[in-house]
Amino acid sequence: MSNLFNKKYCCFTGSGTTAIYLILKALNLQNKKIVYPTITCMAPVNAAVYAGYEPIFCDVSLNNYTMDLNSLKNILDEYDVGVVVPTHVYGHKCNMKEISKVAHEKGCFVLEDAAQTISLSEFSDASIMSFGHTKILETEQGGGAIFTDDERLYGNLKIEKALIKIKPKNINELFDTYREKYYYIMKNKQEGFNNYKEIYNLQINSKDTFIYDADENNEILEKVKDIDVIIKERNKRGKLYEKYLDNSLVDKAQGMYDVLWRYSFLYKGNREKLLEKVREKNIDISSWYPALYHFYLGEKKQEFLNSKIVEEKIVNLWVNVNRAEEKIKQDIQIINEIMRKV
Ligand SMILES: Cc1ncc(COP(=O)(O)O)c(C=O)c1O
Repeated sequence: MSNLFNKKYCCFTGSGTTAIYLILKALNLQNKKIVYPTITCMAPVNAAVYAGYEPIFCDVSLNNYTMDLNSLKNILDEYDVGVVVPTHVYGHKCNMKEISKVAHEKGCFVLEDAAQTISLSEFSDASIMSFGHTKILETEQGGGAIFTDDERLYGNLKIEKALIKIKPKNINELFDTYREKYYYIMKNKQEGFNNYKEIYNLQINSKDTFIYDADENNEILEKVKDIDVIIKERNKRGKLYEKYLDNSLVDKAQGMYDVLWRYSFLYKGNREKLLEKVREKNIDISSWYPALYHFYLGEKKQEFLNSKIVEEKIVNLWVNVNRAEEKIKQDIQIINEIMRKV
């Protein structure tokens, strides 16, 4: 794996979340802040909390929904930051060269989250990938990997890795229970019920569901042999959406990508209605992610103007290889018809 991804060291572990956790424990920079983009998965942010860090956030760009460089510069001027986590959300590449430059100028460690892509930057200090459910290199057993050129960090990672427990046998059950609770809380619209706070508490109490080590997973080595086909097929599906989705109804991303995780765009109409009507037709559609600052910053008021727009308008569609291109074309027709009505 380290040869394939052009890094000196690769360390396998139980999940992508655990990969981040281990790096943060090995760095031992808990006395400084860690910066994530507000639009990303919650699990990597929880990894920081589990490792004893206080996460803070920076806004995202409206072009490709990844970390906004100016927002990051402001954060780095304002706070004592130890780690920056550029994240290639939906497969869109962040500007790793510039992000790493400003982060390194402030003495920060750059931890690239490549869970939603499969190419690693030469500018990061360490990078993580995930082989979990729905990921580009998804495997049944899942897992995560850390890549780095830093020998000292690699040595410390091994020490931290020996301290965590092995994946529980009932991990699927644990995760199903967690997921049930998550959606139960998110659907609760009762007045006075603070969904963000409840989700935060759920996450903080779910460390055992997310942090664990695992034996190496040979399925990954088989999977990476098909990497070129996977990239080609996913991007072919992405191009169908790009070509056939009604341009007048969506703001398409401008960003670069090597491989798409989901085809994502900003919808100009009523997003919630669109999700509802498309799901009625049994087409997979999601609105990942809610902006994460709501969950972690509590009462602290901070404006993230672009993230607010993204969380209200983002729509993601599937590009998985097991989805026939003809089916995707039919789905696009249905989605266009629905978008014209709602
Ligand atoms: C951007 C991002 N980072 C990290 C992770 C964590 O990976 P895993 O599910 O293997 O713990 C995920 C997936 O949940 C993710 O989407």
